[in-house]
Amino acid sequence: MDPKGALGSRIQAALSSRDERWIRRRLPDPNTSSSSSPLIDFNSNDYLSLANSSKLRSLFLEKLAAAPDVLGSGGSRLLVNGKAHAALEARLAGFFKGDTALLFNSGFDANQGFFACVPQPGDVVVYDEYIHASVHDGVRASRARDAQFSFSHNSIPDLRCVLHRLKDERPGLRTGETSLFLSVESLYSMDGTFSPLREIVDVLEETFPLKNGYLVVDEAHSTGIYGPQGRGRVVELGLEDRVLARLHTFGKALAATGAVIITNTLIRDYLLNYARSLIYTTSLSYANIVAADCSFDMLMDGTAQHLSNRLQGLSSYFCNTLNPLLKANNIPPTLVSLPVHFQQPSSSTSASPPSPIIPVLTPHPRPLSAYLLALGMNARPITWPTVPKGKDRVRVCLHAGNTQEDLDKLIQGIISWAEETMRERPAQKGVASSRDRHGGLLESKL
Ligand SMILES: Cc1ncc(COP(=O)(O)O)c(C=O)c1O
Repeated sequence: MDPKGALGSRIQAALSSRDERWIRRRLPDPNTSSSSSPLIDFNSNDYLSLANSSKLRSLFLEKLAAAPDVLGSGGSRLLVNGKAHAALEARLAGFFKGDTALLFNSGFDANQGFFACVPQPGDVVVYDEYIHASVHDGVRASRARDAQFSFSHNSIPDLRCVLHRLKDERPGLRTGETSLFLSVESLYSMDGTFSPLREIVDVLEETFPLKNGYLVVDEAHSTGIYGPQGRGRVVELGLEDRVLARLHTFGKALAATGAVIITNTLIRDYLLNYARSLIYTTSLSYANIVAADCSFDMLMDGTAQHLSNRLQGLSSYFCNTLNPLLKANNIPPTLVSLPVHFQQPSSSTSASPPSPIIPVLTPHPRPLSAYLLALGMNARPITWPTVPKGKDRVRVCLHAGNTQEDLDKLIQGIISWAEETMRERPAQKGVASSRDRHGGLLESKL
C-alpha cells in the first residue's frame, strides 16, 4: 500500500529536500561495496580483514559443525538464556578484565539501552560533541533528557569547564546525591582521533571526589586493534577500575555481529531489568555467538595482534607518504589535506598510536570518491550531517589486508585527482560547486 495524502506528500517532501541539499542517503551498490567486491576496500570497518580470513572461516565452520545449537536463540535472554551466550559472557568478562559482561544484539542497542535507563532522575549526561548517534538516542529516551551537555571534541580544558559549571549549578552533584555520566569513544569513527582517556579520568575524579562522576567508554573502533591482544584502550592504559562501563562491538574488527557491555554486577542486573533494547528483543542467534567466540579465539591466539601491528604500520606509511607528497606537489590544503593530528610523522611508539581511520579533508568529497572508484578503489565521501558543515571528507579506512601497493595507488589517485582539479578549475580551489555535487556517485555513509 502506497501512503497517499498528507503522509505521502510529507515524506516525499522530506526526501526531495534532502535531494536538493545533496544529503539524501542511499544504499551503496552491493557490487562495489561487499567484501567480495573486486574494488580495493578503503571503506569497511573490517580493520583486521578478518571477514576474509580463511583461518577464521575454517574455525567458524568447524565450531559451528560441533555446536549443539546453531540456529535462532528462540527469544529474549530473559526467556531463553542459551548456555553458549552465558559462556561467551563469562569468557569476555575475563578477557576484558572486568567484573561482568552482558551481551547485546548490537553496539547500537547496547548504547541506547544503557543510556536510556542507567541515568536516574536528577542525573546529568555529558558527552564528547562527536559521540555516536546511539548515545544520543539513549539519552533522549532517558530521565536525563533535559540534562545533557556536550564538550568540544577531545578538549580537556572545555571538559573541565563544563564539569565545573555543572557542579556549581547543581547542588546534587556537589553533595553526591546525583551523578554525572561522561560518555566518550576511545577512537572516533569519523576523525580517527583517540580520546585522551587518562586525562579525562583524572579531570572527572578531580572534579567529583565523592566518586559520583562515571566514565563510560565506547570501544567500538578500538576492539581487536589496541591494547594487549586487542582488549581495547581502557585495558591498554590500565583504567579498568576507573571506568563504569565499556562497550565492545563485534561487527567491526571482529568480523562478527553483536556487542558486549563490561561493567559491575549491579549495573548488569539493572540493565537486565530496565534496558528495553535487551529485554524486548530476541537475543543473538547461536551462530552469531559461535562466530563471535571464534573471533575472540583469533584475538587470544595472537593472530589479531599480528594483524594490528601490520595495520598500524600501513597507517603510518600512508600518512608519512601522503603528507610530503601533497606539499611537494603544491596541493593547497584548501583542496586536500589531512587533519593536523595526521600531519606529524606517526609510528606505533607515538603518544597516540596510528589509526586505521584517516579522513582526507576536501570540499569536494564526492568527485574525489568517484575518481578513486573509477580507479578501482572504494573510499566513501562523508558530508554533513554525518560530519559538521565545512568538514567534508573522504573517509579512508585501512585494513590489515591492504598491501603497500594498494596504498601507493590510493595516494597516487588522490594526488592525480587534486592536480586534475587544479588544472580544470584553477579559480575554484577549495570551493565546492554544484557540478562537484553532481560529480559523485556515492552518498554519505550514515
Ligand atoms: C562508536 C560507535 N558506537 C557504536 C556503534 C554501533 O555498533 P553496532 O554496529 O554494533 O551497532 C558504532 C557503529 O557504527 C560506532 O561507530
